[in-house]
Amino acid sequence: MIQGRKVGIIGAGAVGATAAFSLAVMGTCKEIVLFDIAEGVAQGKAIDIAQATHFSTKPTLITAADTPADVKNCDIVVVTAGVPRKGDMTREDLLMINAKIIKSVTEDIMKYSPNAIIISVSNPLDVMTYAIHKITGWDSNRIIGMAGALDGSRMAYQIRKKLGFGAARVGALVIGDHGENMIPLPQKANIGDVPLSDLLSKEEMEDIIERTKNGGAEIVGHLKTSGYYGPGRAIAFMVEAILNDSKAVVSASVLLDGEYGHSDVCVGVPVVLGAKGVERIIEMNLDDTLKEKFKASVNTVTSGIDVLKNNTFFN
Ligand code: NAI
Ligand code: 2OP
Repeated sequence: MIQGRKVGIIGAGAVGATAAFSLAVMGTCKEIVLFDIAEGVAQGKAIDIAQATHFSTKPTLITAADTPADVKNCDIVVVTAGVPRKGDMTREDLLMINAKIIKSVTEDIMKYSPNAIIISVSNPLDVMTYAIHKITGWDSNRIIGMAGALDGSRMAYQIRKKLGFGAARVGALVIGDHGENMIPLPQKANIGDVPLSDLLSKEEMEDIIERTKNGGAEIVGHLKTSGYYGPGRAIAFMVEAILNDSKAVVSASVLLDGEYGHSDVCVGVPVVLGAKGVERIIEMNLDDTLKEKFKASVNTVTSGIDVLKNNTFFN
């Protein structure tokens, strides 16, 4: 249960710091504590964000932790620690490097914030979320992967661009893995309660699917690094839903236990977010084509999990 509206953010890089800034602007938390392994990063950003709160309507205490032990008694801990892929690294190398980081970060969270809800963000998202479940052994409602919220916001952006109207009233859902087999569902989208299928052709919907799937890469193409405003705001939205017990419905990567016909894997599905974290997994009716796509998405995640298992990560 939420106690002090205290949020820890482990990894004060681009995404972690932007999430902190977004929360601080909205005044959602009583306290945010940043930690980063790189010297000075959390400290400098905490000061900068704390000064920005001068213009917020509600106060937030922003501090930096010098050690993982200082990120303590948090209601929510956001995990945005990781390293980017470098030239000679394979995907498997990156997966193992980030998994080791996630393991040590998770062990610290278990020690210092034993009652927290964890929002996992580091990539590969669904595999890292699964690793956190296995490491903690906590009830599955307390570990939530952020991806569908971001991918949904990217689809909403594409829909608005194509239509030229509908700002802030676009319902856009993306399920599946946070990767090449993600499943944007424009056929289930609506604009101000009008079904998108009444406004766009099948070809235009296909185009939206492709552009959504390419949403992260498009930003990398311009910036040479991945986006952080979209991810930061999506994290903040999820934190707000939990702290405010808002029961918001959003797509998130959660541990399936028979839902959608799959178990022991984390993948994006619509959930209800409230004070307990994931309060319900919503099972939609998927037609046979979508069931096949969902299976392909699950297989992508299980092959990542197998890399961890083959490297004796869970032993
Ligand atoms: P970044 O490189 O700017 O920040 C990562 C930070 O983690 C760095 O400051 C680094 O010093 C820190 N770090 C590394 N090991 C640590 C440890 N053991 N303890 C504490 N801090 C540690 O990267 P960025 O852009 O902020 O992305 C962070 C992660 O989020 C990446 O894995 C990225 O792929 C992922 N991501 C996921 C998204 C999603 O939708 N799930 C969206 C965007 C990014
Ligand atoms: C993104 O989708 C890299 O997962 C990150 O932007």
